[in-house]
Amino acid sequence: MAAPLPLLRSLAELRAWIKQSPEAIQLVPTMGGLHAAHGGLFRGARRFGGRVLVSVFVNPLQFGPGEDFERYPRSLDQDLALAAAAGADALWAPQLEDLYPAGPEGLTQVQPAAALGAQLCGPWRPGHFQGVCTVVARLLALVQPQRLFLGEKDWQQLQVLRRMVADLGLPVEIVACPTQREADGLPFSSRNSYLSPLERQRAQALPEALALAAAAARAGEQDGPRLQQLALAHLRARGLQVEYLELVQPHSLQPLPRLERAGLLAAAVRCGTTRLIDHLTLMSRSPIVAIDGPAGAGKSTVTRLVARQLGLVYLDTGAMYRAVTWLLQDLGLAAEESPELAAVLGQLDLRLEAQAQGDQRVLLNGKDVTAAIRTATVTSAVSAVAALPSVRAALTAQQQRFGSSGGLVAEGRDIGTAVFPHAELKVFLTATVAERARRRAADLAARGLPVPSLSQLEQEIAERDQSDSSREVAPLCRAEDALELVSDGLSIEQVVERIVGWFQERVPLEAMAATRATAAAGPAGAEAS
Ligand code: PAF
Repeated sequence: MAAPLPLLRSLAELRAWIKQSPEAIQLVPTMGGLHAAHGGLFRGARRFGGRVLVSVFVNPLQFGPGEDFERYPRSLDQDLALAAAAGADALWAPQLEDLYPAGPEGLTQVQPAAALGAQLCGPWRPGHFQGVCTVVARLLALVQPQRLFLGEKDWQQLQVLRRMVADLGLPVEIVACPTQREADGLPFSSRNSYLSPLERQRAQALPEALALAAAAARAGEQDGPRLQQLALAHLRARGLQVEYLELVQPHSLQPLPRLERAGLLAAAVRCGTTRLIDHLTLMSRSPIVAIDGPAGAGKSTVTRLVARQLGLVYLDTGAMYRAVTWLLQDLGLAAEESPELAAVLGQLDLRLEAQAQGDQRVLLNGKDVTAAIRTATVTSAVSAVAALPSVRAALTAQQQRFGSSGGLVAEGRDIGTAVFPHAELKVFLTATVAERARRRAADLAARGLPVPSLSQLEQEIAERDQSDSSREVAPLCRAEDALELVSDGLSIEQVVERIVGWFQERVPLEAMAATRATAAAGPAGAEAS
């Protein structure tokens, strides 16, 4: 049996508990009525070390008139037992006056970003997200946790709070936890306890309807209205009253007319007097991350690490251009358009085989050229070869074939513009010329090679940027919807963390779990001939 959990009932008790230890605090905010999915959040928080604090507060600000504030489950003894069993270190159940000393009336409140707050549940629950933002801002101010744990089940809330933390620069990291479902498919929710056995059966139509649309998306249906219609018809046939059912972009929550990249199908229904929400990520292929940027910004290292962390395949398009460069040099062909080059490209059998630890083996016409393509001779010619229109066209087509079922993190010069314009996340990874020169010098020194002066390196890098951005074929340019990441002053781990964070704002964790399950059943690695 787990030890009794400290129950903190006042602000003074919270402050005394905080003072007891210098360890970081992992905060899991809840409204009580705890269930197994909360247990998952607490266990998730436990893994980060430090002390796990669970707050239980039914926040009146986030309930509208006629909503279930009075009826909301209040079960502190059970909550204490569940939190203790799931490894929490304390439960804080503040009083109204602890959080809102001057009372909820006339209180300074935090408005959610309008574009997020106005979507999905927004019009149906006026003031709800403002209430959520206000209470969470207050909890953060009082506890000052290192991390805040939130469930993906309330995806819109998660996005609103991520945005609040980013916009206000609050010093906390948000960690999302995937939606957890009960045996009958309903996501765990404190409100499920309102359902009678008969309503509970009818409510299953909600996850069923979303799953029907997800299956259609996997089978190739990309039309937003048709996907919505499919789910709506099922909900209506099962007698659920639909508040909304919408296909939106997971990050911006704006309507998504076509499923060219991952979409979120979200719905709110009424089953009797109970309001239920649920969502599913719809994808016609696994997600793609495209990382672009100038030479020397660390694209390869970062891309490999991001792929490993996300469990996706690393597509090193640079290696593909290097392989063709090596082949031309091996055959004694010049880096120019010619009938010989056309013949080489026509017979190219290029394979990238994923190795343990995210490394890649490059096979060219059956020969392992992994090491050969990294020599200085290849490096000096790859830019010219990659600028040849026929090489570009042949390798772009091959990369698109690799990516047809997704599941890749790909790096390359025009990866987000020409190769994968519908990637779920596009990153333009860059660094100042001075920083790239410093890194290049350090790299050469580490390899025991002669190190030119920094000013010479800077000049070379600036010239390379200039020729890459002004060349006619696939010039270096940032995709309009790419996020720019200037890596000066950041460690590789910080860069990777930032990109993984951006990815998780766009592709829910639960969708990735499903992707991995499918990938495990299918072939691994980016292979094609
Ligand atoms: O998700 C919830 O339980 C609540 O909205 C939260 C985040 C605890 C704020 O009251």
